[in-house]
Amino acid sequence: MPTAVDPHRRRKKRACVLSLRFICSLFAFSVILRLDSTMSLLKSSKVISSIGTFSPSLGVLSTRNSSWWGGVQMGPPDPILGVSEAFKRDTSPKKMNLGVGAYRDDHGKPFVLDCVRKAEALISSKQLDKEYLAIGGLGDFTKSCALLALGADSEVLKSGRNITVQTISGTGSLCIGANFLSRFHSASRDVYLPKPSWGNHTPIFRGAGMQLKAYRYYDPSTCGFDFNGALDDISKMPEKSVIMLHACAHNPTGVDPKPEQWKEIADLVKKRDLLVFFDMAYQGFASGDIDRDAWAVRHFIEQGHNIVLSQSFAKNMGLYGERVGGFTVVCNDAEEAKRVESQLKILIRPMYSNPPMNGARIAATILNTPDLYKIWLEEVHGMANRIIKMREQLAANLKSEGSTHNWQHVIDQIGMFCFTGLKPEQVERLTKEFSVYMTKDGRISMAGVTSGNVGYLAHGIHAVTK
Ligand SMILES: Cc1ncc(COP(=O)(O)O)c(C=O)c1O
Ligand SMILES: *[C@@H]1O[C@H](CO)[C@@H](O)[C@H](O)[C@H]1NC(C)=O
Repeated sequence: MPTAVDPHRRRKKRACVLSLRFICSLFAFSVILRLDSTMSLLKSSKVISSIGTFSPSLGVLSTRNSSWWGGVQMGPPDPILGVSEAFKRDTSPKKMNLGVGAYRDDHGKPFVLDCVRKAEALISSKQLDKEYLAIGGLGDFTKSCALLALGADSEVLKSGRNITVQTISGTGSLCIGANFLSRFHSASRDVYLPKPSWGNHTPIFRGAGMQLKAYRYYDPSTCGFDFNGALDDISKMPEKSVIMLHACAHNPTGVDPKPEQWKEIADLVKKRDLLVFFDMAYQGFASGDIDRDAWAVRHFIEQGHNIVLSQSFAKNMGLYGERVGGFTVVCNDAEEAKRVESQLKILIRPMYSNPPMNGARIAATILNTPDLYKIWLEEVHGMANRIIKMREQLAANLKSEGSTHNWQHVIDQIGMFCFTGLKPEQVERLTKEFSVYMTKDGRISMAGVTSGNVGYLAHGIHAVTK
């Protein structure tokens, strides 16, 4: 049956033709544009001149000469990973790698926690899917991550003025934090690091466009904390500056303020109105007690500091390569937390879209399964204790070797590292003559010391410090 053409259809048809025409003209335009740019590229580069005077050997040469990266200079090797490479090349059976900060068992072997193995089995049995996580990560993880740091009866959590995002371990957390400050802490660009600090702090904050400053922290004359120096420097920091504090087990010195000293620091920091950035990469690893190691963080919050906090599960759960961490902002109220959360998501989205799930699932399973949580606490305690024992044995062995130096700091320092006080030339001898590898600043990873090699280490240290 012939019917009148539906006016609707006709309009659709016309729109179709129009849009086809539009697409065609766009295409033609882009071809012209591309041709044009190709021509100008050809004209401006060596390509056309080498076509003009073509000879096969010259052609190859000119292609090589126009490399994009000809101006890229060789950079220095990473100071810590460089130590590991030198260690690998050494063939001595007595060699020791005390450079890298990764826990080893008493046989010198990498250690996977039993609670991690059990969590993995539990996760595997659930046959979970691999859909993307949210931008801010796995909710079960971020909740328990904040809870672990701030404590179950934290007023901040109760009033909901916290926001935690899952990050790519501690480094990723610091990086998100540094970039968040760079975007939103417009009152100051200055970030004060302890002298010395973890080597990666500087490029992380510099890369985010912050200005690096330092405050006195380590006292080489006592191999301990320069409390007065730190207070003096903090009292001169311009208001609203950012101060970086290692929550516990300071890297690289192993020197932490005592609770009384933390209290004074917190008061002074408040007086100066500084923004506190806590880096907590070793909760539980210092004393063996997760609450004790979080004491400074919780104290600052109780004193009214709205801190930002970086957490890592690399050391305390042995999840190094799984890259599990968190970044937390303590806000004024829940409404502010919502706004901050929205901006953290905007920051994260173009960087990596959303974080990886495997490690976060493991950590969340341990933190949220009472049986596994209990095993974890025991294992953290075990790791910390083994390190504390090695400190005592190293000091005792140095004494029995006949060393007359005061090695008390080896025992007093805390966490993964010991800042021995060895001078660069002594470090060099220890490496050359004893195949003991460590960073030039005299830092040794206590986690690499075992009952089997502590005597040999003491012997070497004594030989180069006589
Ligand atoms: C002080 C400090 N912050 C952060 C980190 C971050 O480590 P990761 O990115 O492996 O969690 C480390 C690791 O050595 C550290 O010592
Ligand atoms: C704040 O912490 C609590 C407890 O860990 C958690 O339930 C809540 O989701 C957190 N809020 C945000 C916005 O992350």
